[in-house]
Formats: sequence, C-alpha cells, structure tokens
Amino acid sequence: MKNSLKEFNENGFAVLKVFNKKTIEKYKKKVLNNLKKSAEKKSIKSLRKLKRLEDYFSFISDEDHVKLMDRETRTIKIDNADTKTIMKEKFGKIFSYFSDKEYKIFRSNGVYSWAGSDITNYAGFRIVKPKSQKVAGYHSDHYNLKNFRFTAWVPLVGFSNKYSLNLLPGSHLIKHPNSATTVNNIGTATLIKNEYVNKFKKPFRPNLKPGEVILFHPYLIHGNSVNLGKTLRVSFEIRICTI
Ligand SMILES: [Fe+2]
Repeated sequence: MKNSLKEFNENGFAVLKVFNKKTIEKYKKKVLNNLKKSAEKKSIKSLRKLKRLEDYFSFISDEDHVKLMDRETRTIKIDNADTKTIMKEKFGKIFSYFSDKEYKIFRSNGVYSWAGSDITNYAGFRIVKPKSQKVAGYHSDHYNLKNFRFTAWVPLVGFSNKYSLNLLPGSHLIKHPNSATTVNNIGTATLIKNEYVNKFKKPFRPNLKPGEVILFHPYLIHGNSVNLGKTLRVSFEIRICTI
C-alpha cells in the first residue's frame, strides 16, 4: 500500500481515492441543479432544457457563463456522510500529522475569499471550457498561516492529466516571500512571478480516475491549469482548516 503521508510531505500533494462513482454522480447532479437555479435567479432562460452537465456549453453563452461562475452562486453543500469520509478515513492521517486540532470544511460566503464569514460544509465548483485561458495563474492558496489550511480538488467531469490541476512538486517546502508575488489582472488570487516559478521542478498534472482527489499543502504552487481535453472540466474545491 502506498504511504500517502510520505507522498504528501515529499511532493506537497497526494492523490487519494475518496469517492465512488455514485458519489461523483450525486455531486454532478448538485452542480447541475445549482446552475439551473442560479440561471433562473439571474433571468438566464437557456438552461431550462439542459439535462446533462456535459452539455452545459451547448446551452450557455460565454457572457452568461461568467454570470453563473460568480463566487456567490457556484457553491454546493457537502453531505454529512461525505464530510465524515473526508475527515476520518482517507485524509485523517495527513491532517493529524500537521495539527492535533479539529478540522472543518469551510467556504467564505463573501464575493472574495478573504471577505465575509465562513460557512461550514460548503465547497465551490468551477466549470472550464476546453482551451479557455480564463484559469488562475500560478499561485499558492495561502502565503501565511493562522490555521493549517488544506485544499482537496475533486474532478467531476474530466479526470486525466489533460484536465487535472497543474502542480509544482516540492514547492510547498518554502514559505513564499512577498517578493515572489505579483499583481493579478484578471482574478483575485495573489499570483507568483514567472522567474520564481522557474526555480522549481517541472510542473506535473496527475492522471486521475473518477473518485480520486488531489489533497494539497497550503504553500504548494499550482495554476495555469488550462483544460487541454476535448470536453468541459467540472471540479470542486474543498477547503479544510483547523478550528
Ligand atoms: Fe488555488
């Protein structure tokens, strides 16, 4: 059996089989329902006949897609049974190595991740068109830590290394200095300068199977994960931090 903690400490991430096919289908349905509901609220009528998440881009215009990817709407609830699985069985060993405190799944309910208050057991999802350049550049999810914060990236549509997160293995071993960061013109994440990125090992995109998840360290640099596949990519991010 592979040692996930060793893998996590060496590379800054670990690939873990967490969900089964049924669970993946359940969350796909949640995303689909969320999109249809949000569309109604925003007076977007084109999604009324959408039945399969995979067909989303055949029904939505680029302009309306941007409206639906608003931080406030692209949120789904994680069921209690799945929270238990995440906290204990699969990730527990890694979590307890970093802190003896209790962990929770949280999402900020504000428009920006640093504004607003935290809501428990919610996650944000994203949908990305093939070849779209509207993806976050290289960044780490945190540059300093008050509480220990992990991210679990869960693909729902698009699993292979053409779709998955682009990671810089080993980059978690450094607390990235302010001088490594740069201004972000299209998004809200604090990005990392290209010269700094070049210091690390070659980027790596894990080849995932349905139900597998990438758990990564708060300092791990990742991004520029352009969807190189033929279909859309749908994924959600679970943020897990100590209370
Ligand atoms: Fe990120």
